Amino acid sequence: MPTIPTIALNDGTDFPELGLGTYNLRGDDGVSAIVAAISSGYRLLDTAVNYENEREVGEAVRRAGDEFGVTRDELLVTTKIPGRHHGYDAAFASAEASLAALGLARIDLHLIHWPNPSVDKYVETWQAMIALREAGLVGSIGVSNFTEAMLTRLIGETGVTPAVNQVELHPYFPQGALREFHRAHGIRTESWSPLARRSELLTEQAVNDAAAAHGVSATQVVLRWHVQLGSTPIPKSATPERQVENADVFGFELSDDEVASISGLERGRLWDGDPNTHEEM
Ligand SMILES: NC(=O)c1ccc[n+]([C@@H]2O[C@H](COP(=O)([O-])OP(=O)(O)OC[C@H]3O[C@@H](n4cnc5c(N)ncnc54)[C@H](OP(=O)(O)O)[C@@H]3O)[C@@H](O)[C@H]2O)c1
Repeated sequence: MPTIPTIALNDGTDFPELGLGTYNLRGDDGVSAIVAAISSGYRLLDTAVNYENEREVGEAVRRAGDEFGVTRDELLVTTKIPGRHHGYDAAFASAEASLAALGLARIDLHLIHWPNPSVDKYVETWQAMIALREAGLVGSIGVSNFTEAMLTRLIGETGVTPAVNQVELHPYFPQGALREFHRAHGIRTESWSPLARRSELLTEQAVNDAAAAHGVSATQVVLRWHVQLGSTPIPKSATPERQVENADVFGFELSDDEVASISGLERGRLWDGDPNTHEEM
C-alpha cells in the first residue's frame, strides 16, 4: 500500500499531497468505492453538501475503521458550504447539518464552495467558519474557487488566512499567478478536476513523452505534475485499480523541462467556472 506524503498547512495540520474526489460516488457502490480508496492508502476525502453524498463518505469512514483498522484520526474529511448557506447563522447550520449527514463529530477541512460575489456574504460566512473552528466542530478552514482579490479581502477584513484554496487546476489551466499568490501567503493549493475529467489531456504528446520516459501512465504523469507544482490533486475514480494507479505517483520525478512542457499545454478554463461570474447555490 503506497504511503501518500503529507505537508503542513498554515494551521499545522498534516495534509496529504493527494486525495480522493467523490463527486458522483453515491449509494452502496459509492461507499464501496470510497472504502476501496481508503484501503489503498487515501486519507483525504473530498465531498460537499451539493454532491449529496456526505452520508456515503461518513459510512465509508466507519467501514474502513471496521474492516481495515484505519482510525478516524488518520482521515481528513473535507466538505463545503453551498451558496444557499452563505451568512453567519446559515453557515453554522450548514456545518451542523453536514456533521449529521456524515455521522461524524468533526469536519476536518471545511470550505466555502463558491464565493458567489453578487450575494456578497462570503466574509460573513468566513466569520462563522472561524467560530466553528474555535468551537472544535471543524479542524481546518479554507475556501474554493476564490480569486486573489477575494482572498485579499477575506484576509484583510478578518485577519485569518484560509488554509486551502481548492480551484480548477490541470495542465490546460495551471493557475500560475494564483499559485504564486498562495505560496506568498501560506495557502495550500488544491486542484479540482486534476485530470481535466479525462479529456484529451491524456493523449497529449508532452504527457505521453514523459510517461514513456518514466515507464508510468499518462494519468500518473499528470498527477505527478500537480504534486511538483505544490498542489494537492483530488482525482475521482470509482475504479479500485485506477485509484491505486492514481495514488502511485511518489516514486518518480519529472524533470523541470517535462514540467514546463506539460504546463505549456495551457489554454484556459475548460468549464464556465470564472468565480467572478459563475455562482452556485
Ligand atoms: N470545488 C469545486 O468547485 C469542485 C468542482 C469540481 C470537482 N471538484 C472535486 O474534484 C474532484 C475531481 O474532479 P472531477 O471528478 O471533476 O474530475 P477528475 O478527477 O479530473 O476526472 C475524473 C474522471 O477521470 C476518470 N479517471 C480517474 N482516474 C483515471 C485513470 N487512472 N485512468 C483513466 N481515467 C481515469 C474517472 O473515471 P472512473 O471514475 O470511471 O474511474 C472520471 O471519469 C471531484 O470529484 C470533486 O471532489 C470540486
